[in-house]
Amino acid sequence: MGRVLEPAAGDTAALLGEAEFELACRLIAEYAGIKLSPHKRYMVHNRLTRRLRARSVTSFAAYLQLVQAEPAGEREAFVNALTTNLTSFFREPHHFELLRVRAQQHRERERRPLRVWCSASSTGEEAWSLAMTLREAACPSDILATDIDTEALATGSAGVYPMERTGTLTPERLRAHWLRGVGANAGWASARPELRALVKFAPLNLQSAAWPAMEPFDVIFCRNVVIYFDREAQRRLLGRFTSVLRPGGLLAVGHAESFPAMHPAFKACGRTAYNYQPG
Ligand SMILES: C[S@@+](CC[C@H](N)C(=O)[O-])C[C@H]1O[C@@H](n2cnc3c(N)ncnc32)[C@H](O)[C@@H]1O
Repeated sequence: MGRVLEPAAGDTAALLGEAEFELACRLIAEYAGIKLSPHKRYMVHNRLTRRLRARSVTSFAAYLQLVQAEPAGEREAFVNALTTNLTSFFREPHHFELLRVRAQQHRERERRPLRVWCSASSTGEEAWSLAMTLREAACPSDILATDIDTEALATGSAGVYPMERTGTLTPERLRAHWLRGVGANAGWASARPELRALVKFAPLNLQSAAWPAMEPFDVIFCRNVVIYFDREAQRRLLGRFTSVLRPGGLLAVGHAESFPAMHPAFKACGRTAYNYQPG
């Protein structure tokens, strides 16, 4: 039996009906490649209810019309509302150890900065973890951090987090790379300028027909995002990575993702890590 939908406390909008849920699923798949399973109906109801209130719209049908009519307006807020942004500093830490070794080799062999793409950066913790690793390895680097969710990106580029969110950082790392707020800013940590100099944040939809021109990367982190895409979209994305990753480059994916195995040029080189070795 399907899950019973219950409106949240104080919720004035009608329940999200099956037809509206199906339309919302179709739209988020079209805009972001995100596949929502049927049991996400309650989540979609709750997240979109906030948007209905913000836009003073009283039905989901009218709201979804607004989403379709405003490509540069409500569509962005709709996508932001339906993405899942769970992340943390040094999540799945084995990849940062691999990166540290790569960075040391790069520093010894190359004169140019190491180029890294953090391709689903969410609220920024992953990108700042890359920057801390590369700074500690004293490796000149450029990090591009992108995400489809413009609100999450704004948090990332602000580079300011509540102290509770820095719990996975060692005291040494916190001291070396972050400034602790005082007075009115007590309880917050802000990225030091030396860290900020390494990272640029920009919006990018991994599923969009055209990506902006990008210099090739030595490393791509694409973690915990393709689990929301179907197999065909994963395969297409992998093909596109081959045009922006340097031969010998590293691709790191999430713990439940194995999509690089679909392409013969990606050779496993550690836990959920792949070397790009074209023929
Ligand atoms: C669960 S978070 C993962 C964050 C980080 N990579 C990590 O592993 O901790 C997934 C992120 O993918 C982003 N995302 C979903 N669809 C996307 C798309 N089509 N293009 C770019 N980013 C997308 C979401 O906005 C969200 O911030």
